[in-house]
Amino acid sequence: MEVVHTIPELRAAVARARQAGQAVGFVPTMGCLHEGHLSLIRRAKQEAAFVVVSIFVNPTQFGANEDFSKYPRTFEDDRRGCEAAGASLIFAPSAADFYPAGASTWVDVEGVSAKLCGEFRPGHFRGVATVVAMLFNAAQADLAVFGRKDLQQLAVIRRMVRDLHFPVRIVAHDTVREPNGVAMSSRNRYLSAEQLAQAAAIPAALAAAQALAKTGVNDAVRLRDAALAVLGSQPALKPQYCEIVDLETMAPVTSTAGLRCAIAIACHLGTTRLIDNADL
Ligand code: PAF
Repeated sequence: MEVVHTIPELRAAVARARQAGQAVGFVPTMGCLHEGHLSLIRRAKQEAAFVVVSIFVNPTQFGANEDFSKYPRTFEDDRRGCEAAGASLIFAPSAADFYPAGASTWVDVEGVSAKLCGEFRPGHFRGVATVVAMLFNAAQADLAVFGRKDLQQLAVIRRMVRDLHFPVRIVAHDTVREPNGVAMSSRNRYLSAEQLAQAAAIPAALAAAQALAKTGVNDAVRLRDAALAVLGSQPALKPQYCEIVDLETMAPVTSTAGLRCAIAIACHLGTTRLIDNADL
């Protein structure tokens, strides 16, 4: 497995893979890889012989008061994980090289970015869409794998790919969970054992809404209240949002009837912000 730091090196390696007749898969990450990321890499490997993983903690998607500087950097562990999961190459650019000096171009995916995390993390999805567009241009992969855990990010990327005609197929991969049901996230390492146990109320809340939906209830207020009742039973959790949304537009709905919907939750637990979601 190669590790490269520049776009010309990445493009040369991808060109060699193509010449050898290999399809190219791509998994963008910010490092601090856990089993969820490794399952994305394994999925990419099922779909493409040559798999590129990018490791880049993207400064433009963090707000001024967010955890950019303390975001865990664990490159050696990440390298070993990528190799074991079947990656062919890691692309790890420096921010100074990747963003040209004075870069002033942004990709703003309006509408889909507006609600949920977009409301509480202004500029976050503009940073995500811009860096993913740059990474897509750099890697020129046939397909890219994203986790369903970041549901709104997935919808933003799908919309960007559609609107800007990126020649890349987006593959959505299921959320990998801790034994107690909590969605895996790089930020789980900020949680104490007690907090990880408390966080189990989030998947339990999603399950409560799903169970109600299965009985035929499609009223969004009732579905949301079922989830909020479970979240409310764990006082350590401070819900930021709990919404029933259309899967494609991420717009909150009043009823799920005839729509493809999900319930999406964000909560603070101490100083850590956790998100999760489930299809309804
Ligand atoms: O999901 C992430 O880790 C990041 O948002 C991504 C897609 C790698 C862009 O920086």
